[in-house]
Amino acid sequence: MARRKKVYEGKAKILYEGPEPGTLVQYFKDDATAFNAEKKDVIDGKGVLNNRLSEFFMTGLNQLGVPTHFMKRLNMREQLIRAVEVVPLEVIVRNYAAGTLAKRLGLEEGTMLPRPIVEFCYKDDSLGDPLVAEEHIIAFGWASQQDLDDMVALALRVNDFMTGVLYGVGIRLADFKIEIGRVWDGDFQRLIVADEISPDSCRLWDIETGRKLDKDVFRRDLGDLADAYTEVARRLGVLPSNATHLPKPTLIN
Ligand code: TYD
Repeated sequence: MARRKKVYEGKAKILYEGPEPGTLVQYFKDDATAFNAEKKDVIDGKGVLNNRLSEFFMTGLNQLGVPTHFMKRLNMREQLIRAVEVVPLEVIVRNYAAGTLAKRLGLEEGTMLPRPIVEFCYKDDSLGDPLVAEEHIIAFGWASQQDLDDMVALALRVNDFMTGVLYGVGIRLADFKIEIGRVWDGDFQRLIVADEISPDSCRLWDIETGRKLDKDVFRRDLGDLADAYTEVARRLGVLPSNATHLPKPTLIN
C-alpha cells in the first residue's frame, strides 16, 4: 500500500493525510526535545505511551462534551483526528507554581496557586514561544475576544477533568499546555482541543512522594522518561497489552 502523504512533521509527531477529507492521521514519534529543541534524544516507547495517554484523556473529554480533535486510535503509534486550523497559541493552565512561572515571579516550585491561572504563549519556535497578553492576541488578530473567552473556558474544563482523573490515581496536575483548533460546521466556527494531551505537555507529581512523572524527568535528567510515563499509563489502566517498555533482551551464552 502506498504510504500516506506527509502533511507536517513536528518535534514529537507527524501528520499524514487522513482517509476522508477533513481528517488526518497523527503519528507519535519517540523523539524527545526540550529547551526549544536544544536538548534532544530518542526515548524507546515514548510515542506508543503518548498515543495511548492522549487517546485516554481526549476520549474522556469527548464523553463529557468537551470537544477534541480525537476520533479513534488506529494502531500503536497512530490516531485518526479531525483536521483543524490551529490557533497559534499555547494555552497553559497552572495549578501549582513550576517552570517559567516559578522563575518569573520568584515562587518556590510546588506553591499552590490561589486559583488556576491561564496563560498564553505565541507559537513561534524562532522566538522561543514568548508569553503574550490578551491585548497582543487581539491586536495582532491571532484570536478574537470571543475566541479568547471560549479558549479560557475550554482550558478550565480540561483542567477540571484532568485534575480529577489524575488525583484519583495519586497524581497532582501542576500545570499543562493544550493547543486549540478551529473547525467549521457550515458558517459556524467551533473551538476544539487539538494536538495531544500527554506527560510531554503536563507537569505531573506523585502526591505521596513528589516524584516527577512528566517531561521534567528528561529536561532535568531525573531518570528514565519511559519509566515515568509507563507509571502514569499503568495507574490510569491504559497500558497496552503488548508492553511498550520492556528491558532489552540480553544475550545468553
Ligand atoms: P512552562 O513552565 O511555561 O515552560 P517550561 O516547560 O519550558 O518550563 O510550561 C508550563 C507547562 O506547559 C509545562 O507543563 C510544559 C507545558 N508547555 C509545553 O508543553 N510546550 C510549550 O511550548 C510550553 C511553553 C509549555
